[in-house]
Amino acid sequence: MKVLVIGAGNMGLTYAEGMSTSTLLSKHRLNIYDTDPKKIESLRKEGNFNVYESLEECLPSSDIVFIAVKPYHCESLFKDMKSLVNSQQIFVSLMAGVTLQTIQNHLNVPKIVRAMPNLPAKVGKGVTSYTETENVSKVELIAVRNLLDTTGSSIHVDNETFIDASTGISGSGPAYVFYFMQSMLEAAHKMGFSDYDSRVLVSNTFEGAIELFNQSDISPKSWIDKVASKGGTTQAAIDSMEDNNVKELIQEAAYAAFNRATELGKTK
Ligand SMILES: NC(=O)c1ccc[n+]([C@@H]2O[C@H](COP(=O)([O-])OP(=O)(O)OC[C@H]3O[C@@H](n4cnc5c(N)ncnc54)[C@H](OP(=O)(O)O)[C@@H]3O)[C@@H](O)[C@H]2O)c1
Repeated sequence: MKVLVIGAGNMGLTYAEGMSTSTLLSKHRLNIYDTDPKKIESLRKEGNFNVYESLEECLPSSDIVFIAVKPYHCESLFKDMKSLVNSQQIFVSLMAGVTLQTIQNHLNVPKIVRAMPNLPAKVGKGVTSYTETENVSKVELIAVRNLLDTTGSSIHVDNETFIDASTGISGSGPAYVFYFMQSMLEAAHKMGFSDYDSRVLVSNTFEGAIELFNQSDISPKSWIDKVASKGGTTQAAIDSMEDNNVKELIQEAAYAAFNRATELGKTK
């Protein structure tokens, strides 16, 4: 199977590196196409993938094509791709807010998967939600899922509304976690801890809490109930967050990202 990644940026390279570990294809069958001469040169020097600067040379013979350019570059890319694609190929779009219909309108191909990845894919801990056009067969979808899973895990969703919704939860979600971490780091600094100690305190607190969560069936709410005793220190912090409607504000933020993803899809 020949896989082509279009766009050797953050996501494209992350997927290329992940997929090169897949048993479905060897490194030598993974092709990358980009328009940036500097990127092409440095990728060629590294020698890990077949790097192309012309779509004519790599697109027609590809079985699965990952599209990882910024959404605002998609229209000019689609124009260049149009005469080189065929109806047997599977297109996997990682672009936020670009709908299946938009891709179909531009490329006139039947088999498209729309996927929403997230940043931890860089360290093999990503989560990708995906959905597809009806012409993608079950077997083809399993192959795509295997490739997506090389960067972490994935969930199949029934329609694109859930792709936009997962943008609000997992796509943009790492930034919410970083926001929380930054807030705790700043609190630690204010309390007098050094940069290093603040980082150790915050990082291990997050890592430890996630590990506890993953190793049990208990909800975060139950963990809070376990650690927050009446009149104690943790309860004081939780009461402060509840008084300030922090939970509602976080949910509002997730909906803001969801709504923005829906809006972006309508403008394409
Ligand atoms: N980064 C994330 O966390 C994240 C999360 C979810 C979804 N996504 C989606 O992933 C996609 C890629 O994002 P990114 O952050 O990886 O972008 P990026 O780092 O800018 O990478 C895109 C690459 O594609 C190249 N490119 C532009 N036009 C091209 C064309 N016509 N043909 C081939 N290559 C072209 C760009 O070159 P130039 O630099 O020269 O323009 C760049 O090397 C986006 O659509 C985004 O919505 C990203």
